[in-house]
Amino acid sequence: MTDTSRLLNLDEFERAAAATLPTMAFDYYAGGAADEVTLRGTRAAWDHVGIRYRVLRGIAERSVATTVLGQELAVPILAAPMAFQRLAHPDGEVALMRAAGAAGAGMVLSTLSTTSLEEVRAASEAPLWFQLYIYKDRDASKALVQRAEAAGCTALVLTVDSPILGRREREARSGFHLPAEFPVPNLEGLARSTLASSLHSFIAENWDADITWDDLAWLQSITELPILVKGIVRGDDARLALENGAAGVIVSNHGGRQLDTAVQSVRALSEVAQAMDGEGTLLVDGGIRRGTDIVKAMALGAHAVLLGRPLLWGLAVDGEAGARRVFELLRDEFDVAMGLSGCASVDEITLDLLD
Ligand code: GLV
Repeated sequence: MTDTSRLLNLDEFERAAAATLPTMAFDYYAGGAADEVTLRGTRAAWDHVGIRYRVLRGIAERSVATTVLGQELAVPILAAPMAFQRLAHPDGEVALMRAAGAAGAGMVLSTLSTTSLEEVRAASEAPLWFQLYIYKDRDASKALVQRAEAAGCTALVLTVDSPILGRREREARSGFHLPAEFPVPNLEGLARSTLASSLHSFIAENWDADITWDDLAWLQSITELPILVKGIVRGDDARLALENGAAGVIVSNHGGRQLDTAVQSVRALSEVAQAMDGEGTLLVDGGIRRGTDIVKAMALGAHAVLLGRPLLWGLAVDGEAGARRVFELLRDEFDVAMGLSGCASVDEITLDLLD
């Protein structure tokens, strides 16, 4: 077992996980679409933004706490929705939920979870939002929304960048499939048999590739929960999301797993933030690996960030404790980055900090 106290940053967790996980699971999690240009570029793009830090600001007392959708977070981080977490560790989504709770973070649970949303909800008091797609079978979609509401999830995250699945060569090469022993309890009412051979056929069979902005209005009509639209990379789409009643958007290129050469999150965030002009909730994911990346995201207007793969690496290396350490490392880095930028609280992180 890896001694996680020796792992000093999120990339070191990735290397440790690569040495631990079976190839099929590692390739599924780590891979992106086609040439993985977006996957690599989204990570690298944060490095190309410089911080114009302020000095002599008295930052001995600092708080990294924030509020998103009226929910308090001790750190401006939520676990991104990621499928099949029991492939990373037997405790899967429950372990990640507990780690998020211990770190004062939130969690967005994937529809493609290997644990039921009710069980995940019961694992911690931390904010839990439920991610979904719209199925061809609207009754199945509606039933899932009702389950999420009844369980006490406090927001819905509608992923809109995946009407069809991206072409993922790493996944194809290692023959990704979900072995039959793994349950997918949020898929009740849908045929899951194709998952055992390929995610592609499962999605083609069940997801509705014809959804439009009207379906966002439909989703709105069946729930009281705030809806965040995830997978937005353009200002005009962000405006449409707000006009169609969304509480906000998540700027994301789906971790580089959908459209290769899609714009990097940091560039998309800048355009989207301008278009939203302070209206609604704005989050971002993609390539966040350092506390300085969070400073940059918040300076551009994000209220919090979603953290994806590194949490799976934490789970793979040491279950709940590993994921907790990943949250803590990023939190500590963010605290230092914020202080050295001359900010004592997240409200002081403003656009003029960037070059
Ligand atoms: C599922 O959403 C995936 O990206 O594999």
